[in-house]
Amino acid sequence: MKIIKNGIVVTASDTFQADIKIVDDKIEAVGLGLSTEGAEVIDASGRYIFPGGIDPHTHLDMPFGGTVTKDDFETGTVAAAFGGTTTIIDFCLTEKSKPLSDAIEVWHNKSKDKAAIDYSFHLMIGEMNDHVLKELPQVIEQEGITSFKVFMAYKNVFQADDATLFQTLIKAKELGSLVMVHAENGDVIDYLTKKALQNDQTAPIYHALTRPPEAEGEATGRASQLTALADSQLYVVHVTCEDAVKQIEEARKRGADVWGETCPQYLVLDQSIMDQPDFEGAKYVWSPPLREKKHQESLWNALRTGSLQTLGSDQCSFDFNGQKDLGKDDFTKIPNGGPTIEDRMSILYSEGVCKGRITLNQFVELTSTRAAKLFGLHPKKGTIAAGADADLVIFNPDVMRTLSQKTHHLAVDYNAFEGLEVSGKAETVLLRGQVIVENDQYVGHKGQGEYIKRAKYGHQLESKVAQR
Ligand code: URP
Ligand code: ZN
Ligand code: ZN
Ligand code: ZN
Repeated sequence: MKIIKNGIVVTASDTFQADIKIVDDKIEAVGLGLSTEGAEVIDASGRYIFPGGIDPHTHLDMPFGGTVTKDDFETGTVAAAFGGTTTIIDFCLTEKSKPLSDAIEVWHNKSKDKAAIDYSFHLMIGEMNDHVLKELPQVIEQEGITSFKVFMAYKNVFQADDATLFQTLIKAKELGSLVMVHAENGDVIDYLTKKALQNDQTAPIYHALTRPPEAEGEATGRASQLTALADSQLYVVHVTCEDAVKQIEEARKRGADVWGETCPQYLVLDQSIMDQPDFEGAKYVWSPPLREKKHQESLWNALRTGSLQTLGSDQCSFDFNGQKDLGKDDFTKIPNGGPTIEDRMSILYSEGVCKGRITLNQFVELTSTRAAKLFGLHPKKGTIAAGADADLVIFNPDVMRTLSQKTHHLAVDYNAFEGLEVSGKAETVLLRGQVIVENDQYVGHKGQGEYIKRAKYGHQLESKVAQR
């Protein structure tokens, strides 16, 4: 038994002084003056206590463009824990004309006995046919995978056509799952990319210039309309720009069940950083790309007003030396993605809460609670209440620190936010009642994280009512 004393408990709805009693892996009680008899006491004076972060968007040990992400389920999840994240949902990539179960087994093998924190999978849908239709109910019932990802970009690699997206939406509605989209118009981007290369425009900045915000807005609007037509549900990953935010806002106003996620990189970095000399810009090649600075304010407004509801990291790290440089002479060969899993919560706290853009309760909603509700993890995860898993972050708001590759816990050779000063730090982190981070040390063990089977979408009426 453990008692966390004297902390300030923060949930998506409330902020209050309370002690937390933990028995085995669960929270047993939250209240004032809980007896400490026979308990191990953790003093949290002057600290906030947040529900463990839930990162709904990671790519660990993922193959991309002839290489594999530097961080895997071991290094990536330890780094996540240092940042206050105790659950991730990683994207399981499928291959056309192969059983979905093959891909799921590959992802189990990547993660089993490695993860430091709890984890689950989303499943990519690249094609729709009788085999896929037959397998989907088993994926949901046996694996507890209740969210499917469709790529509208990466032509000739991951991209699915509109018929596939539409059928996935219809099937998801029937089976109780959430469809996720990478929303960019892949055909238009393919055309713009070929034209750039013909004109010898090969530097990293052309990655951004060939993927304009309109291509993201268009795909976001198209996916939202198809969702309304199918009377289904949609979650748009990594929203970067005003164009896409507007589409989500309008769809929601019309009553469509559409949700949006943004990521820390789009909140604090802008496109100008991709124009640096010595190929440095390659560190910041994401799809969708970083945008002009004006878009950052639209994203912050959307987080504040509820037009965007979650913050995912889109963790997808490649070394600058040896991986990003595959694209030295051709930006299309730069592996897409960056290291963000560790700093996701810190950035939102420091840039969001401390700068008065969002409240402390919104911070919890955006980093944990909303993802738990959308992805079938709530109330086991995503809140601080009797009966919930004791996934807890004891957060010191008074620490100032500088984000850096020198101090991060990822394996990758650079930090995307190098030099950014942030306030606050996850000092002590508990996973299901066990301390896994304290005194700047990882004190958990490899494989401590468990695979989580998730509930179906809409298992809580609350999620739909809240939105309308
Ligand atoms: O550039 C990115 N975002 N890489 C990861 C794959 C994806 O599209 O989410
Ligand atoms: Zn399995
Ligand atoms: Zn994507
Ligand atoms: Zn991603």
